[in-house]
Amino acid sequence: MSDIATHEQISALIRHRRSIKPVDMDAARAVERALLTKILEDATWAPTHGLTEPWKFLVHQGAARQRLAGAMQEIYRETTPASEFREDKLRKMGESPLIAPVVIACVMERRGGAKIPEVEEVEAVACALQNLQLSATAAGLGCYWSSPPVLSTREFAEWLQIGAEDRCVGLIYLGWPRVGLNWPQGRREPVETKTRWCDE
Ligand SMILES: Cc1cc2nc3c(=O)[nH]c(=O)nc-3n(C[C@H](O)[C@H](O)[C@H](O)COP(=O)(O)O)c2cc1C
Repeated sequence: MSDIATHEQISALIRHRRSIKPVDMDAARAVERALLTKILEDATWAPTHGLTEPWKFLVHQGAARQRLAGAMQEIYRETTPASEFREDKLRKMGESPLIAPVVIACVMERRGGAKIPEVEEVEAVACALQNLQLSATAAGLGCYWSSPPVLSTREFAEWLQIGAEDRCVGLIYLGWPRVGLNWPQGRREPVETKTRWCDE
C-alpha cells in the first residue's frame, strides 16, 4: 500500500476489533474529548452516496447516560408486549450506559430526499460506524454496537428529538477495556463459503 499503513497492519486491525461489552470496560476511566473527536471525525470519512453525510452522533457522557438509561427503560416498559417483556433486559438497559463512559446514539439523518434511497443512507451510517469502531480499536478502546428494539420506537425518536424520517441505528458503547480482560476470540466462516467467483 502507501506509506500510511501497511496492508498487514490494516488487516490486523480489522481482525483484532471485537465487540467489547460495557461489563468489560473500565467504568472509572474517562475517554478524553480530543480522542473522541478524532474517532468521530474518522467515522465521517465513510463513503456516502451523493455526499449527503447522513450521520449524527448524539454523544452521552456523565449524567446524560443516566437520562438515556432511564428513557430506554421507561420506553421498554411502555412498548414491550407482556409476552416478550424480560426483567433481565430491563435491568441491563439501566446498567450498561452507566458502566461505559461514553454511549453514542447513532442516527441516520435523512438528507438525500427522494434521490437517495433510505437504505443507502442507513448503509452509509453503517460504514461510518465501522470506521468509528476501527478507529476506537486502533486507539486501544473497547467498543460495542447495540441495537435493542426500543431504539426503533417512535417514543425513543421523540426522546432523542430526531426528525420523523430519521432513525437511530444503534448505540455505540465506548470505553477502555478493564484491566485483566482477555481479549475475546473472534469467529468467522471461511470466506470460500461466502464467495462465488464469476470468471467467465
Ligand atoms: C447492526 C448491528 C447491530 C448489533 N446489535 C447488537 C445487539 O443488539 N446486541 C449484541 O449483543 N450485539 C450486537 N451487535 C454486535 C454483534 O453481536 C457482533 O458484532 C457479533 O457477535 C460478532 O462479534 P465481533 O463484533 O466481536 O466480531 C450488532 C452488530 C451490528 C453490526
